[in-house]
Amino acid sequence: MTILITAGPTQEAIDPVRYLTNRSSGKMGYALAEQALGMKHRVILISGPTQLDIPAGADFIPVESAREMFTAVERFISQSDIAIFAAAVADYRPTSVPEQKIKKSSETMTLELVKNPDILGSCRDVFHYQGVLVGFAAETEKVEEHARGKLLRKGCDLLIANDVSRQDIGFDQDENEIMLITAEETIPLPKDSKKHLASHVIKEALLISQEKAEQ
Ligand code: PMT
Repeated sequence: MTILITAGPTQEAIDPVRYLTNRSSGKMGYALAEQALGMKHRVILISGPTQLDIPAGADFIPVESAREMFTAVERFISQSDIAIFAAAVADYRPTSVPEQKIKKSSETMTLELVKNPDILGSCRDVFHYQGVLVGFAAETEKVEEHARGKLLRKGCDLLIANDVSRQDIGFDQDENEIMLITAEETIPLPKDSKKHLASHVIKEALLISQEKAEQ
């Protein structure tokens, strides 16, 4: 099987030396890549900037911005049987980026933002992807309800929900606590290492792939 994985944050340029980003370390996405590689699958890892080592054997596509990630996913997704979106993509980017560094001449500064493309949300309608689609939902309240909404809206087969309001899991931690959400059921998994949880996610996605093939 070929598994495409997005990971890490995106960086959205404000000027040549500044950018908007978020707290994603890439650990969750890289753990998924390592588990999939350990099960002998081909992995296409499309990653925003992180401090992590590139998993040995992965086809590694580095990107910076959401628009670069969109282009990379558009290019490679048709090669995959399963696509997993663990990246924390910036929903907005600065409307325009000046060529020179912005000077601190005034007391206040207003930054106008424009919406980035929804990469996961483009998979079915824009990329016409037919494989197993796995999204993540980073929520701070009503975690299951909001995640289930994303599962349906984005045409996912499986949605991985995590509560990013907690300091002990989620962003930049070695552990996470997730729910695996499908149209039929919700499977809560206890707090565990991202490595172990990644193995559960890959196995569930493979099961769904097998079920689809038998239909
Ligand atoms: O990287 P770590 O430090 O290990 O942290 C892990 C994590 C918290 C980043 C990860 O577990 C996680 O929750 N990733 C998804 C973060 C996110 O952006 O969630 P969201 O609910 O805002 O987005 C929903 C889904 O749409 C996600 O699959 C996201 O990758 C995708 N998306 C979002 C916006 C966008 N423009 N394009 C997208 O593809």
